[in-house]
Amino acid sequence: MFEPIYRSRPGADALAPASADQAEEIAPGLWCSPGLSNSYLLTTDEGRVIVNTGMGFEGPVHRANFDAVDSSPVRYIIVTQGHVDHECQFVAEHLARVSPRSILDIGSHRQFVLGLLAHYLVTTVDVRPRRSVVGHEIVLVGDARSLPLAGACADAVVSLCAVEHFGLGRYGDPFDPSGDLKAFGEMTRVLRPGGHLLFTTTITNAAPSIVFNAHRIYTLPMLREMSRGLELVEERFFNPELPGFCRPDEVTTVPHRWNVYMGCLRKPLAD
Ligand SMILES: C[S@@+](CC[C@H](N)C(=O)[O-])C[C@H]1O[C@@H](n2cnc3c(N)ncnc32)[C@H](O)[C@@H]1O
Repeated sequence: MFEPIYRSRPGADALAPASADQAEEIAPGLWCSPGLSNSYLLTTDEGRVIVNTGMGFEGPVHRANFDAVDSSPVRYIIVTQGHVDHECQFVAEHLARVSPRSILDIGSHRQFVLGLLAHYLVTTVDVRPRRSVVGHEIVLVGDARSLPLAGACADAVVSLCAVEHFGLGRYGDPFDPSGDLKAFGEMTRVLRPGGHLLFTTTITNAAPSIVFNAHRIYTLPMLREMSRGLELVEERFFNPELPGFCRPDEVTTVPHRWNVYMGCLRKPLAD
């Protein structure tokens, strides 16, 4: 029988996808359909407002529960849990501040890279072959563990939600337990002195782990060790259970869960 991959991961036993057969009214006109990720319905005279839609596979349960309460049109869907929004904001702010002439991107979200291409010259590296729809994108197919680039060639290196995957084979790259550390060394090598590395990844205040072959989950000391040799400009943290960015001590302590680390680092100028 088909077994979804998340069932084989540590902590899967504790996961309880949405299964309630009705939504609960938690305040007048405000309904909750519980699940792995709760979904909320606000009924108004002008239609329905949904706050968060749950995990993809929970959608039909939440929808049926809310349709039973009110079948008027859905006017707005508000998504409050997207870590991607926060990390893109962080990186975009820092890029605007340092105005790089050239950017090297390694494995970031495609939509973000397309946005960067509107303003910057971007070279993209990813282990998976792809073709660009944007004429001026320089597309390189390669392994982050050994970048096909000369040293000190980039004003800025950007890598969102990628380093935790390098060397785990999930995307077809060779298995290499130190793939993340090697890739970090490569990102530093190709950065020009004074250039900036902007990266985002997983973080926990519990024990670090590898959820094979999905991703690694790091602690702050591990990330600090990885970026030793670079100067810290700013770091931020995001926990979807808290509004906005959070403090490092507010990062999750639940084993095998992860929150988001965002770092802006500068390569020191040569002596
Ligand atoms: C989680 S994805 C990043 C976000 C994703 N591209 C998206 O749009 O949601 C990680 C990216 O890193 C790339 N990748 C994984 N291992 C790699 C490696 N060793 N070298 C270069 N790229 C790699 C993958 O192909 C993938 O595009």
